Amino acid sequence: MRLVLLGPPGAGKGTQASAIVSKYSIPHISTGDIFRANIKNGTELGKQVEAYMKKGLLVPDELVVSIVKDRLTKEDCKEGFLLDGFPRTVNQAEALDKELKDMNLKLDRVINIEVGKEILIERAIGRRICKNCGATYHVKFSPPKVENTCDKCGGELYQRDDDKAETVEKRIEVYQEQTKPLIDYYKEKDLLLNIDGTKSIEEIFYDIVASLEGDF
Ligand code: AP5
Ligand code: MG
Ligand code: ZN
Repeated sequence: MRLVLLGPPGAGKGTQASAIVSKYSIPHISTGDIFRANIKNGTELGKQVEAYMKKGLLVPDELVVSIVKDRLTKEDCKEGFLLDGFPRTVNQAEALDKELKDMNLKLDRVINIEVGKEILIERAIGRRICKNCGATYHVKFSPPKVENTCDKCGGELYQRDDDKAETVEKRIEVYQEQTKPLIDYYKEKDLLLNIDGTKSIEEIFYDIVASLEGDF
């Protein structure tokens, strides 16, 4: 299955992505996670993207597209993949179409998680991530059993650099301007699956699977 997860910052893309990729055994490709790993490891790419991410701005298309293109040619993408946080501009979507066409492949579905601004801010600000394994928590909505400690591996939890209130607002603004047009882009291609992202994590996952399986 070749899927894209679309939705504003804090909508729950990463949370649903983990469940989807484990159910369908496909790789989870999150451009945000790739960038954060590069920043952490101090790579050249990390240095190029850090300032954009800190400000809540998009990384330039050229940088993102070449990374995704390269990733899609890897062996583990043969049977499918889930793109999370890519594409994020019409330019990126067109580049993805072209790349898939060259590979003789097509997207199956674009899952669009819909959530209003107030909830997005609350979700992003309360998010905590495990330093060690990357598992995602929320101080109120999905707290770890022991404060600040990962249930899965015992690692310490941290707050993302761009999860401060002002930066989250900026990211939402950037989403409205540059990413939202992709909803129409994929609707026109008859690929869009709208999912109500205000429900519980489990209900949303159920809705996604039901919609996907209704199709296949
Ligand atoms: P990226 O890492 O993709 O961030 P984002 O799109 O802003 O989305 P988030 O990861 O913040 O939210 P999410 O939807 O994954 O929510 P989550 O599941 O964690 O991008 C970061 C930056 O990288 C960008 O700003 C940009 O600079 C750069 N970048 C990345 N890709 C790029 C691209 N293609 N082009 C250019 N630049 C790019 O959930 C959020 C919280 O809510 C968690 O705490 C979770 O526990 C909780 N939660 C989730 N679901 C629910 C629920 N149903 N009920 C209650 N709580 C919930
Ligand atoms: Mg995410
Ligand atoms: Zn962990």
